[in-house]
Amino acid sequence: MAPISQSKEEILTSALPYIQRYEGTTFVIKYGGAAMTEATLKESFAKDVTLLKKIGINVVIVHGGGNAVTDLSAKLGMESRFVGGQRYTDEATLNTVVMTLAGSVNKEIVGLINRAGGNAVGLCGIDNNLISAKKYSPKGYDLGLVGQVESVNAEWINKLIASGVMPVIAPVGVSESGEVYNINADLAASAIAQALGSEKLFFLTDTEGVLVNGELVPTLTNARAQQLIKQGVITGGMIPKVNAAFDALANGVKKVHLINGAAKHSLLLEIFTHEGVGTQIIREEKVFGNPTKTIAASHSDSVTGAPTASKHDLLDLTVMTKQDVEDLMHLTDVLKHTDAKPLSGKHVTLIFQKPSLRTRVSFEVGIAQLGGTSLYLSNEGVGLGDRESVADVARVLSSYSDCIVARLFDDGVLRGLAEHSSAPVINALTDRSHPCQILADMYTIRQHGKLAPGMKVAFIGDGNNVAHSWIEMAAIYPMHLAIAAPAGYHPDPAIMEYALKSGISTIEILDDPRIAADNADVLYTDVWASMGQEEEKAVRQKAFKNYQVNSQLLKLAHPNALIMHCLPAHRGEEITDDAMDSPNSVVFDQAENRLHVQKAILATLLGDVSVNTPAASDLQTGDAVTEQHSLSYEQESETIRHS
Ligand code: CP
Ligand code: NVA
Repeated sequence: MAPISQSKEEILTSALPYIQRYEGTTFVIKYGGAAMTEATLKESFAKDVTLLKKIGINVVIVHGGGNAVTDLSAKLGMESRFVGGQRYTDEATLNTVVMTLAGSVNKEIVGLINRAGGNAVGLCGIDNNLISAKKYSPKGYDLGLVGQVESVNAEWINKLIASGVMPVIAPVGVSESGEVYNINADLAASAIAQALGSEKLFFLTDTEGVLVNGELVPTLTNARAQQLIKQGVITGGMIPKVNAAFDALANGVKKVHLINGAAKHSLLLEIFTHEGVGTQIIREEKVFGNPTKTIAASHSDSVTGAPTASKHDLLDLTVMTKQDVEDLMHLTDVLKHTDAKPLSGKHVTLIFQKPSLRTRVSFEVGIAQLGGTSLYLSNEGVGLGDRESVADVARVLSSYSDCIVARLFDDGVLRGLAEHSSAPVINALTDRSHPCQILADMYTIRQHGKLAPGMKVAFIGDGNNVAHSWIEMAAIYPMHLAIAAPAGYHPDPAIMEYALKSGISTIEILDDPRIAADNADVLYTDVWASMGQEEEKAVRQKAFKNYQVNSQLLKLAHPNALIMHCLPAHRGEEITDDAMDSPNSVVFDQAENRLHVQKAILATLLGDVSVNTPAASDLQTGDAVTEQHSLSYEQESETIRHS
């Protein structure tokens, strides 16, 4: 019995980060297909959405008609009329739609959810003008009383949610003059999700998701979807569903999921497990900014046979959005609770021109924990740009490796490496910046409850690589960044200009560390002489002698201020023992978090599984193409599709 209870415990604890993340957010669920017609599925769906509501997620359901409209029309002996391949909705058909969708079907769903304890209230778009609609005439065809959504009364839906109910909405709309329209349930769900700015939009279908050659596509971006539509892989009713998903993503919905409603509890598995289920649809730019073009593309796309033209590097923080940073922190939480192996079968090569303890070990251990293999190369063995050109090294290494992690002196060499590598390249520190460090630092600040827009970070010391990454972070996350550095050691003006232009944060360069430290939430420092600057040590010790984090400076900061240092520290120089070992110091948490965050970076850039987070990778290309996804989607909704 022990292993079973242990695995239950694991399942429950691994759900915790998701529960924390989604509490108070809104999920819109398009309910349809087998989940709406098969008795046990109906019941399990009602229980699942009730569970979501009970843990604090605002659930809004938009449903189709199942077979009810067809059945009633048949009973009444009504004949279907088609225009341009689409069904015409006349007055009588609309009546059957309203009777069933807004009547019997809606009430059955509401009843089931309420029996499960979910406080559902049944509505249709006519109620309080919930869905304002106008006539829809695609390509000039008159489809009768088919409508398209003009606006959604989101304020009222939010009021209903705030009053503790779960709205269950039938997709019928009404015009200003009172004309009632039949609206495609997918499009209605998408419009409602957009109006509510919902965290997630789910489409329950009767297939596992988007299938290519019988294989599930775990992650789909718009470019890939349009390619699959063009190739005739995504067809029929799946097209408007996918397009409705991208419309939702373009208008504020964070993520859309196509999941199999015919599989029990697929909703819960998608939301609360690391691997997720179904196809998640994401915006292109979600994975660390736009992909980098590569010259030496060795990975070919099995759809076209052509080399893939892009990959995602992490050369600096300018490729990341605030959402990316938040997603990365969430993924870090998730990976701490699972033993998933998203790097299984992947190899990462580390090439380091400078010494390292934390970065090297955290990458190597992290790669192993994620199921991958790694190889460390010191520059002596490689002679980057010396024994062999940077471009040639990049071509060769990336033909063996799925990722290159590089610690180099010259940032330009890193960029050359990335340009000629077909595998993603991660900056493990250059003279210019240290992005992985600051990502782990943000996670540490969050861990200590200090991460909040407007937080004051005082950076005391050299305006060098670590300071530069802080400045780049200030162009992503709103903060007050006060850098105190002696003249001649200020940060690169180009990086400052970039961050100031973003207008995201207040950034100041000060002479006086006391002004920087004043009421700061974080006191951060770095060595006075960085790797490669050893010869300047004496000169720097003089220049920086007043730029020390010590107990005097700490007194000026916020009482709970965090003392931070990327390490290695030169105790007695940039930081005193009493500061480094004070209760305010989180320097060793920073060091530990390098491992956790490194894993999330790797899983995002390389992960093979569909990682269930908005920062999931879109690197699952290369699916072979044979149309396999079932036609059941076509059959699932009774409303007319606007393809
Ligand atoms: N902070 C940091 O990058 O440490 P290492 O130089 O030891 O990798
Ligand atoms: N600025 C320091 C950071 C070490 C992690 C250096 O480059 O040596």
